[in-house]
Amino acid sequence: MAVVSTQDTARVIPLARPVLGEEEEAAVAEVLRSGQLSLGPRVPAFEQAFAERVGAPFACAVSSGTAGLHLALRAVGVSDGDEVITSPFSFVASANVALYERARPVFADIDPVTLNLDPAAAAAAVTERTRALLPVHIFGYPADLPAFEALAARPGLAIVEDACEALGARHRDGVAVGGRGHPAAFGFYANKQLTTGEGGMVTLGDEALKVRIDSERNQGRAPDMGWLDHDRLGFNYRLSDIASAIGLVQLQRLEGMLASRARVAAAYREALAGIEGLGLPCEDRDGDVRGWFVFVVQLPRGRDRDATMLALRELGVQSKPYLPAIHLMSFYRERFGHRPGEFPVCEDVADRSLALPFFPGMSEGAVERVGEALGAVLQG
Ligand SMILES: Cc1ncc(COP(=O)(O)O)c(C=O)c1O
Repeated sequence: MAVVSTQDTARVIPLARPVLGEEEEAAVAEVLRSGQLSLGPRVPAFEQAFAERVGAPFACAVSSGTAGLHLALRAVGVSDGDEVITSPFSFVASANVALYERARPVFADIDPVTLNLDPAAAAAAVTERTRALLPVHIFGYPADLPAFEALAARPGLAIVEDACEALGARHRDGVAVGGRGHPAAFGFYANKQLTTGEGGMVTLGDEALKVRIDSERNQGRAPDMGWLDHDRLGFNYRLSDIASAIGLVQLQRLEGMLASRARVAAAYREALAGIEGLGLPCEDRDGDVRGWFVFVVQLPRGRDRDATMLALRELGVQSKPYLPAIHLMSFYRERFGHRPGEFPVCEDVADRSLALPFFPGMSEGAVERVGEALGAVLQG
């Protein structure tokens, strides 16, 4: 196999690459010509189309997935001193949002196969102060919502879903992720299944919560209030019409982009099958369907991940440790005194996981090159 120099950037296979084309350009140009760049008609149009796509009664467009999670937690009533049970194996935002409301993120360990919050571990972490469960559909694999719904049958316990990585995923009972009625936040950063550059959406089933989120994303203004009249605390978490116009076009492309991601994932399974000790993302099971977001492998135990990444880089392949355990990040250690050993499944997975290049339109040749490079590095 030819060794590719890191200088040869043209041959480096990137981690992610969004699919954007002339339709997005035309949609943006139309918004620019209209002069209505924000608070215009594209926002509700995008919300409606998105809600229909996931089968939710309502949707609220917001400026990011984080903003969506924050407003969703506020909407279900999380506040001072409450506890929110969530996964330590996630992007840091899913825990941070509890802190925004002076609530405490309480971690529970993950399932070693799906890498999602383990319902039994979550059940063991429930206390009198628990106000919400915040499962994360990590890497696009649906969290076990039926189990969390049984747990949340206790009055006063709400569910907010972090669906930022899971557009296109479906639960075993046929309901799309985001379509169960609990507030579910999606993210539209550039590496996501659908992108608006930055952006997000909360889907939900309760109209009163929609009204509250719509108001709080817009500085606390009620829909019927005049300009600069505010009846509650709010934020500027709005999504622009420019972003919404891109989102509308991306929604039209979504099925194709999801199918393309699934094809790339299948090609990876074949390309990596022979590498001994390498863990692959779990296959869909019991009727759950993953919405492919990233392709993250688990390196064989004892492998030096940094050295593996460097060697891959020398072969023209980008990779990234993904994800680190949240409770062991310096801020969380200092603030809450977390220590290694608290969530052993999460820590083992976080130590070994490596994201490989993954995006729709990635050629089979590129997948094979990554497979050959990883095989050479791990077995050479
Ligand atoms: C699991 C998860 N939660 C939350 C977020 C936050 O989304 P955003 O970056 O749009 O604020 C992300 C985005 O990377 C994510 O992957």
